[in-house]
Amino acid sequence: MKAVTWHGKRDVRIDTVPDPKIEDPTDSIVRITTTGICGSDLHLYEVLGPFLSEGDILGHEPMGIVEEVGPGVTAIHPGQRVVIPFNISCGTCFMCNQGLHSQCETTQVRDQGMGAALFGFTKLYGQVPGGQAEYLRVPFGNTLPIPVPEGLPDERFVYLSDVLPTAWQAVEYAGIPNDGSVVVLGLGPIGDMSARIARHRGAQQVIGVDLVPERLARARLHGVDALDLRDHQNDLAEVIRGMTGGRGPDAVIDAVGMEAHGSPSAKLAQQMAGLLPAAVAAPLMQHAGVDRLNAFYLAIDIVRRGGTISVIGVYGGMADPLPMLTIFDKQIQLRMGQANVRRWVPDILPLLTDGDPLGVDGFATHTLPLDQAPQAYEMFQKKTDGAVKILLQP
Ligand SMILES: NC(=O)c1ccc[n+]([C@@H]2O[C@H](COP(=O)([O-])OP(=O)(O)OC[C@H]3O[C@@H](n4cnc5c(N)ncnc54)[C@H](O)[C@@H]3O)[C@@H](O)[C@H]2O)c1
Ligand SMILES: [Zn+2]
Ligand SMILES: [Zn+2]
Repeated sequence: MKAVTWHGKRDVRIDTVPDPKIEDPTDSIVRITTTGICGSDLHLYEVLGPFLSEGDILGHEPMGIVEEVGPGVTAIHPGQRVVIPFNISCGTCFMCNQGLHSQCETTQVRDQGMGAALFGFTKLYGQVPGGQAEYLRVPFGNTLPIPVPEGLPDERFVYLSDVLPTAWQAVEYAGIPNDGSVVVLGLGPIGDMSARIARHRGAQQVIGVDLVPERLARARLHGVDALDLRDHQNDLAEVIRGMTGGRGPDAVIDAVGMEAHGSPSAKLAQQMAGLLPAAVAAPLMQHAGVDRLNAFYLAIDIVRRGGTISVIGVYGGMADPLPMLTIFDKQIQLRMGQANVRRWVPDILPLLTDGDPLGVDGFATHTLPLDQAPQAYEMFQKKTDGAVKILLQP
């Protein structure tokens, strides 16, 4: 089959690789019809190379048609339409039973000290072949795939794999009071959808921050007060306090993560780690402070005293310097983590089948054949041609 594979920094290719096979009785094989490129894939493309091997199959936002099931699978059948969550969760362990699917105890990557395995996402998360491919082996056929109805295009459902539950969790963890205020830092797909969900769930005031004009414009169409970071290099927190009764917002969602614009020394550290051989760079990146923390620092400054920061952007350093005095003194509440995809599906699915209140139709700016993945990654990273969300179709 054809698959999108990683070959080095900013080097992804289409390779022909062996078709996946049923290995366990509860496995299924899914023929992928639509699969997203995520901001998390951009971290693999740019800075997380030390945790990848040449030829790793990327992708964790797939949906498609069940092609084959193992003898232990009764919940889905060949021909059925399914979306695959990015976390590989068993659905039956202690963690999954509490809705903490990203901590699944059946798939935790214990030799790396990490949580649940993920599709297409580095040695830290199990190095499992991903979903930017023609076919995907999906374990836990009775509990992991999300059956979705026929009759509506893939674009309506594909974001159940990541964007929708991730943004839903970001809003849930932000704990925005009824009629409260929230600032969303970063208006990529995750921040944009978080802002839409916050409004849908009753936030009175949603302020968004980014530095890409079309992303700001998109958010404004959905009722967000969008601020351009470039116009507020030194006064962003002050301006936002002015918009929120002098106090700051009840909550801040950090939807930027480790590659934030405006963190020059950490950018240099990331670049230097990228030049070292993987065997040296991987432990260095795990034990040093290599995150670009600009967005998180902004969140600490912006949030009101006693407010909540919900970190949904991905971070990875072990020795990141944090202003503990301010975090403690402001009595900031902090919540974060990989999305527990399966947990939020029952909340979200009705919003996809009963009209489209979140505007997922038209959310993708580009839908391209799988073959064009190399160009698509480049376009998404450079934010050219108005690219905000790109879907690939094998
Ligand atoms: N926790 C999870 O389960 C989960 C799931 C999916 C994605 N993510 C993470 O969420 C983050 C966003 O993903 P995405 O797909 O929207 O990616 P993206 O790269 O398209 O979005 C990031 C946005 O942040 C903006 N930005 C950069 N620096 C900024 C700053 N200092 N202040 C404000 N905005 C800034 C960029 O211009 C960009 O629009 C990534 O870190 C991704 O890895 C996490
Ligand atoms: Zn993702
Ligand atoms: Zn589990």
